[in-house]
Amino acid sequence: MESPFKAEILKGKVALVTGGGSGIGYEISLELGKHGASVAIMGRRKHVVDSAVHALRSHGIPAIGIEGDVRKEEDAARTVESTFKHFGRLDILVNSAAGNFLAAAEDLSPNGFRTVIDIDSVGTFIMCREALKYLKKGGPGKDPSIGGTIINITAVIHYPATWNQIHASAAKAAVDSITRSLALEWGEDHGILVNGIAPGAIGDTAGVTKLAPQEIVNQLKQKPLYKFGEKWDIAMAALYLASDAGKFVNGTILIVDGGQWLSKPRLMSREEVKKLSRREETRSRVAPAGLPNSKL
Ligand code: COA
Repeated sequence: MESPFKAEILKGKVALVTGGGSGIGYEISLELGKHGASVAIMGRRKHVVDSAVHALRSHGIPAIGIEGDVRKEEDAARTVESTFKHFGRLDILVNSAAGNFLAAAEDLSPNGFRTVIDIDSVGTFIMCREALKYLKKGGPGKDPSIGGTIINITAVIHYPATWNQIHASAAKAAVDSITRSLALEWGEDHGILVNGIAPGAIGDTAGVTKLAPQEIVNQLKQKPLYKFGEKWDIAMAALYLASDAGKFVNGTILIVDGGQWLSKPRLMSREEVKKLSRREETRSRVAPAGLPNSKL
């Protein structure tokens, strides 16, 4: 889909996107780049990072790739420094790297729980911490009065409880908390805006492939009122937050899931609800033996 934003809203800006080699992270990198930003992507798998850089460059986007693991402080420091050395500044950090898999709580080892906390929560904190000196107002290459922007990709799984994802739910709850704490402290002290984006189920991503096996996806697709989002939806939210459009937005978590987190998916149409409700109401008025009849 075509972006509703002007093509140069991020002209001259430099973005670093963790997990930028694939899925939502790649789509965000692509849209930031298409709107004028130079982009550095970080990922653990060299071949994935390399092919993403190749694809970004084919769109005319100045892009570099850095192999690294957000859990390792030395990788985070090297990535942030390489980005600065290559592009001369850093304006936008997107923490999109994450790990998840399905496991019932009683089958999950402490190390499985810890691994996801380490990638999502500790990794997000490590990246923010390493990027601070370049993102803060007056930092190297920065305007003395305007700081940069951090966008943390979170999820909606921890707003209600979600089956088989105790590890990722705990990790993303911590990410949301990190977002708010940094928005408060770094907004005040350094002029940095820190916000989150909480995607719902986004089609064609590792998240959906791993967490909703094909049999479940096929069932959901038959329900006309249940929709998957697109990576593009998340990238547009990132553009809003990264551009001047979001310059007064700080400490918010922008939920991008079509409102599905508010409830379970709507599996019946209004007409079906009317029919079912009337049928059940009629049935309920015929009181079982021994119970008084309704006065209604
Ligand atoms: N069910 C239960 N436990 C699992 C598991 C699964 N499907 N997959 C991994 N684990 C456990 C491992 O058994 C191990 O615990 P143990 O030492 O007690 O046995 C622990 O998690 C760490 O696994 P390991 O494979 O060593 O971790 P890793 O760092 O190589 O990989 C993951 C991290 C597991 C999160 C991996 O899925 C990953 O790299 N994911 C990134 C991409 C992704 O998940 N994207 C979706 C985002 S929504």
